[in-house]
Amino acid sequence: TIVRVAGREILDSRGNPTVEVDVILEDGSLGRAAVPSGASTGTNEAVERRDGDPRRFHGKGVRRAIEAVTGEIAAAVTGMDAEDQAAVDEAMIALDGTPGKSRLGANALLGVSLATAKAAAASHRLPLYRYLDPEAALLPLPMMNIINGGAHADNPLDFQEFMIAPVGATTFADAVRMGSEVFHTLRATLKKAGHHTGVGDEGGFAPDLRTAEEALDLIVTAISDAGYSPGTHIAVMLDPAASEFYRDGAYHYAGEGVRRTVEEHAAYLSRLVSAYPIVSIEDPMAQDDTEGWRLVTRELGATCRLVGDDVFCTNAALLRAGIDAGIANSILVKVNQIGTLTEMLDTVRTAEEAGYGVVMSHRSGETEDTTIADLAVAAGCGQIKTGSLSRSERTAKYNQLIRIEEELGTEARYAGRSALKSG
Ligand code: PGA
Ligand code: ZN
Repeated sequence: TIVRVAGREILDSRGNPTVEVDVILEDGSLGRAAVPSGASTGTNEAVERRDGDPRRFHGKGVRRAIEAVTGEIAAAVTGMDAEDQAAVDEAMIALDGTPGKSRLGANALLGVSLATAKAAAASHRLPLYRYLDPEAALLPLPMMNIINGGAHADNPLDFQEFMIAPVGATTFADAVRMGSEVFHTLRATLKKAGHHTGVGDEGGFAPDLRTAEEALDLIVTAISDAGYSPGTHIAVMLDPAASEFYRDGAYHYAGEGVRRTVEEHAAYLSRLVSAYPIVSIEDPMAQDDTEGWRLVTRELGATCRLVGDDVFCTNAALLRAGIDAGIANSILVKVNQIGTLTEMLDTVRTAEEAGYGVVMSHRSGETEDTTIADLAVAAGCGQIKTGSLSRSERTAKYNQLIRIEEELGTEARYAGRSALKSG
């Protein structure tokens, strides 16, 4: 039984305020969760409530979301059974009463939702992943973002994320080692080529490159120089986050200084897939460009994971519409895009039933909270996207997965390349 709900304003990895919630049960068990925040957000995401008071945190304060947590929400969920996650989440959704959770704030709801699950797990003295699914044993293929661009870095790169995925590793810990080795080799490669080696929001390097090819060439070289075979041991993945550079029906590549029509943009992506060991592209097309999404799904859907982020926003209804429209073959899952654990798990089920791949994901604004590592295992996702091999808010998730793998012992199974097969 929930006896107390507390909330506080803490800082995220960009130094912006965010919500942290404590849920305390009758037996003294504590669940604590912090809420992440995106920079390249989809238009249909649940609403993150910010104070807008310019005197505090440049308007980004979350005091009112916290007042909702400790006021209305606490009043509604106190006395409820923390093990009945669906009931707690449904009570909050009903209390909010808006489709986008804008009245109380999705950041308020999510903090309580996740902290409730963690409190219930603590009460059972179980790790969260095992509390949510006692059979869970699949460790996800990590998608490690080692070059940052777009809205996550101050460089001219149009594409937001260039990732590596250790498909040939045998364990999760091994995948992390391989990723780290490539990351450090890439650092040396960049330095030698005269580039700076500062990192972007997700811990990947943010060199002043202008084209995707330059970034991909550096990554493939780093994979080889680290002693791995590109494609066989380590594959490459992209998140162009194309909604960010789509305007007036075309894709505007500022770094290159070129404008590509939808067809030219699709053809360009196809050329990249032919030339490099790319096995997954997230948001290859803008969220509003349904025709572009159909086109790229027809052209690359059989060979590539095409992951819908902005276009689905972790929303089961939007995903169902996308499945019907023949868009994508995978979904990115970000808990704060939808706002409650119950709805997120419902979206995962919808994806699995349609044979879509599922990627559990962080946000570009993160905290030291590692809940998504447990959620990736509990939901049996097969893939996780949680940034580079640097910055503690990113490595915290990898480290938690290393612990989970150790705890599962011989039961643990690393998804590796199998995560790329459609099911
Ligand atoms: P965001 O970016 O967290 O800034 O929205 C992550 C992504 O686009 O996948
Ligand atoms: Zn994305």
